[in-house]
Amino acid sequence: MKIDLKSLTQKYDTPLYLYDFDEMTTRYEELKEAFEGHKSLISYAVKANSNLAVIRHLAQMGAGADCVSIGEVKRALTAGVERYKIIFSGVGKRDEEIEEALKRDILMLNLESEAEMKRVELVAKELGKEARISIRVNPNIDPKTHPYISTGLHENKFGVEIDMAKRMYIYAKKSAHLNPVGIHFHIGSQLTELDPIREASMIVADLVRNLRAIDIDIKFFDVGGGLGVVYKDETTICPRDYTEVIFEATRGLDVTLLCEPGRYLMANAGELVTRVLYEKENAGKRFVVVDAAMNDLIRPSLYDAYHNIEAVRMGKRDAGKASEKNVPADVVGPICESGDFFGKNVNLPPLEHDDLLVIHSAGAYGFTMASNYNTRSRAAEVAIVGGADHCIRKRESFEDQVALELACDNSWQKK
Ligand code: LLP
Repeated sequence: MKIDLKSLTQKYDTPLYLYDFDEMTTRYEELKEAFEGHKSLISYAVKANSNLAVIRHLAQMGAGADCVSIGEVKRALTAGVERYKIIFSGVGKRDEEIEEALKRDILMLNLESEAEMKRVELVAKELGKEARISIRVNPNIDPKTHPYISTGLHENKFGVEIDMAKRMYIYAKKSAHLNPVGIHFHIGSQLTELDPIREASMIVADLVRNLRAIDIDIKFFDVGGGLGVVYKDETTICPRDYTEVIFEATRGLDVTLLCEPGRYLMANAGELVTRVLYEKENAGKRFVVVDAAMNDLIRPSLYDAYHNIEAVRMGKRDAGKASEKNVPADVVGPICESGDFFGKNVNLPPLEHDDLLVIHSAGAYGFTMASNYNTRSRAAEVAIVGGADHCIRKRESFEDQVALELACDNSWQKK
C-alpha cells in the first residue's frame, strides 16, 4: 500500500485498520479468471471482514456472499449482493434465522445435520415455501492446518458423514418443502497443501455421481473456502492449480462451481496501524508497548498466529549510530493479560513515543474478531482506493459502547 501513514494517522488516529481495495480487486479477479470456462460463483466469506464497503466492493465485481448468521445475510443484502448469490451456512441456525432467509429467497441454506433439515422443512412448510438446500459433507480429510481452523475431520463439529448426507438427500428429494440443489464441503482454513483439497473434491464429486444415479440432480458444487495466504514464508496454492483440481474431480458433471474465500481475498489487503506508547525492559527483556491490543487483533493471542510487524519511525534521528541497530522485542498491547501481544522477539529499531508499527496481513479475521474487552473502543476502518483514503467505519466512542446499557431502565438501582 503506497500511503502517507503520518497524515493518515493524524487524520484518523490509531489504532487504525487500512484496507487496500485495489489489492482486493486483484485477488478477486485472479481467482475468477482461474475458473474461466466453467460456470462458477465466488461467494465471499463475509466472516473474514464484514465491513459493508468491503462486501459492496466485491459485490460490484460480481461476488456473492457466504454467510453464517442472519446478520451476515442482512449485511450482504444491504451491501448490494444479489439474493440469488447468497448462501447461509452454519451449524446452528435459529428458527427465526431460517424463516428470514427463506423469506428473503436467497440461493440456498447449507445444512449441517438431519435435525436441522427437519427444522428447515417445518419452517418452509409453515411459510408455504420450498427451501433450496445444500448439505455440508464432512469428508474426513486432514487439511494439515491449525487444529482450531481444521473443519473436515469427523472429530470436528461440522457437516455430516457421506452416508448420512445420502439419506438426507433422499429425504429432501421426497419432501414437498425441500429442494436439494447443492452440495458443500469446507475442510479448513489457511490451506497450503493441494492434496487434501483434491481428495475431498473427489470424495464429494463421487457422492454427486451416486446421487445422479438415483435421480437427485445437484446443481451447485461448493468447495468452501480455505485458500491460504502468505503471512511469513508459506508456500501457497496458486489459483489455477486450485481450480484444476476441482475441474478434474467434477469432470463430466454439469455443475456450477462455488467457492467461499475469505482470507484469500482479504488478509493481505489489510493492515493494522498502531502507535508506539513506550519502550520498557524487564531484566534485559525488551518490550514495545503499543496502543492496539488483543481486542483489536486477537489472532496472535488465540492461534499464536504470525503477523509481520514493520516499524515506521516518525521523528528525526541521527542515522548510522550503533544504537540504531535492530534488537528483538515483544510487541504488546495495554490489556491486562500476558496473552496480549502481536509478536514475540520481533527485530525492531529503537522506538520512541508516536512512532508507528504496521501489523501486516490483518485484513481477514482482524476487525471482525475485535471486541470491547477492557472497554476499549474498536478501531476506525479506512479504505485506500487508487491512493485516496475513505473512512468506511468510524472509530467507536465510549458513548457507543455504553449506549445499550444506558438505554435500559436503570431506576431499580437508584435510591
Ligand atoms: N466457508 C466456511 C464454511 C467456513 O467455515 C469458512 C471459514 C470459510 C468459508 C472461509 O474460510 P477462508 O477462505 O477465510 O479460509 N478466525 C480464523 C479463521 C476461521 C475460519 C472459519 N471458517 C483465523 O483468524 O485464522
